[in-house]
Amino acid sequence: MKKLIPIITLIFLFVQCKENSTKNTQNNKILGFVADSAMVVSAREEASKIGVAILQKGGNAFDAMVATELALCVAYPFAGNIGGGGFMVYRTNDGKTGALDYREKAPLAASKNMYLDENGDVIKGKSTLGSMAIGIPGTVDGLFKVHEKFGTLPISELIQPVIDLANKGVIVTKKQEDRLAKYRHFFSEVNDTQIILDAEWKEGDTIKYLNLAKTLERIRDNGRDGFYKGKTAEMLVNYVQKIGGIITKKDLDNYEAKWRTPIEFTYKDLKITSMSPPSSGGICDAQIFKALEPYDISTYGHNSVKSIQLIAEAERRAFADRSFYLGDPDFVQIPIDTLISASYVQKRMEDFSWDKATLSSSISHGNIAGYESDETTHYSIIDSYGNAISATTTLNGAYGSKVYVSEGGFMLNNEMDDFSSKPGEPNMFGLIGAEANSIEPGKRMLSSMTPTIVEKNNKLFMAVGSPGGSTIITSVMQTILNVYEFNFGMQEAVDAPRFHHQWLPDVVTLEPKGFDSILVEKLKAKGYKINQENSRILGKVDAILVLPNGQLEGGADYRGDDKAAGF
Ligand code: GLY
Repeated sequence: MKKLIPIITLIFLFVQCKENSTKNTQNNKILGFVADSAMVVSAREEASKIGVAILQKGGNAFDAMVATELALCVAYPFAGNIGGGGFMVYRTNDGKTGALDYREKAPLAASKNMYLDENGDVIKGKSTLGSMAIGIPGTVDGLFKVHEKFGTLPISELIQPVIDLANKGVIVTKKQEDRLAKYRHFFSEVNDTQIILDAEWKEGDTIKYLNLAKTLERIRDNGRDGFYKGKTAEMLVNYVQKIGGIITKKDLDNYEAKWRTPIEFTYKDLKITSMSPPSSGGICDAQIFKALEPYDISTYGHNSVKSIQLIAEAERRAFADRSFYLGDPDFVQIPIDTLISASYVQKRMEDFSWDKATLSSSISHGNIAGYESDETTHYSIIDSYGNAISATTTLNGAYGSKVYVSEGGFMLNNEMDDFSSKPGEPNMFGLIGAEANSIEPGKRMLSSMTPTIVEKNNKLFMAVGSPGGSTIITSVMQTILNVYEFNFGMQEAVDAPRFHHQWLPDVVTLEPKGFDSILVEKLKAKGYKINQENSRILGKVDAILVLPNGQLEGGADYRGDDKAAGF
């Protein structure tokens, strides 16, 4: 689909970019940043602004995606990447939906028991830290697939502003300073040379990413081959092998992103389009929404005992199914239609009681005849033509494997940890996996990424997504509920305190702020184990809502440095 209406001739004068909380109001609601026709919301202001500048030039949401995603690699090395992968869900202005899987793959030399010692025990850290943790990156191939199918501006015009940003440098924020201080010691543990992020960068410093700029130039000039072949591929493979990894040039050469059929389902009068396997996000959220549908949750109150109870029980059951059934659809058969059907899900809820928590030890996956998955980043874009994209991209953990290809200027992921190293053994998100998500050469590891687009009355309503490992699924779901059931504005819905249950461990995690002790005691009295003391923030949602008057409201999560920009 090329642009369906002519390029807007008027070039808007300003890219607005405001703090997350503003005094905009409509229908007595305090709103976040509001724009008339186009918006990008991402983890860094620099990336949102580069995306918006592409939209202002007449580029569409897909053009802006290429620029925004690459800009996040420069401005947000914590999770933005060319050394990782992701998923994108789109809705074009004529109502067509689709999804792109640019998830990493296991190297060809990977094997089922590669993270186990001679006693069959998981070797701590091997799937999370260093060269053996790396999956074959998918981001660059994914972006070229998007551009080939939907792009309207030349690729050089999309990449050049990002090259300029890398050369000019990015200012360190307080949150970035803190993150670097926390993870710096891993960089020297894993790499055999000093890397640019080893320096003690402070808030207000400017980091220039000159080697990354050169890699981006090779990608600009040679397309996907600028990453998967030639100089960049050589740098990557030589370095990873030098420090003990198994990635080969053939792995890079073979990598291909794939167009997938997204998961689509209804919730009351919403139509929700979300990511299909190898992400679990769409199926899990479909199951949770279908479990909630018979209830009038809006009458229970936002984050009330009743609504937390109902949602936690729906989450518990969905995550139990996730662990058993889900994996790479190119390798395992997944009974998707049954899993997301109202009849199956509501049967799974038959033993739910308002009086008492169901124990996760008493719950397993459902039985389906014939059948024997945190540091990521999300951005949402709506263009002035009415196209929407929702994209979540990741290195997996903070700074991925911590392996930094210094010559090329980029981090590599530790996505291999999203496989199940051993049945029943939790990964870094505490997620338990089974055979469906075991390691095989060339297979994609199960994800929780949930880029999602919501329609109401057949019209675009919301683009939404989040980082946060397993908590992505529940953060996205609660954000949609906050708007639809509890009548929140977009920014308010993003800022609201969140909670999470993932079957195992059998606890409801509450964000540290926002849940009072009376509510916690009531949940405990019903048998819920509560984790509040040791909990962290849950998700970091970046979303856009189409307001009744057609304007766009951004929800840029205050939990990060996230920003909405638009015009
Ligand atoms: N690496 C986090 C996820 O894909 O779920």
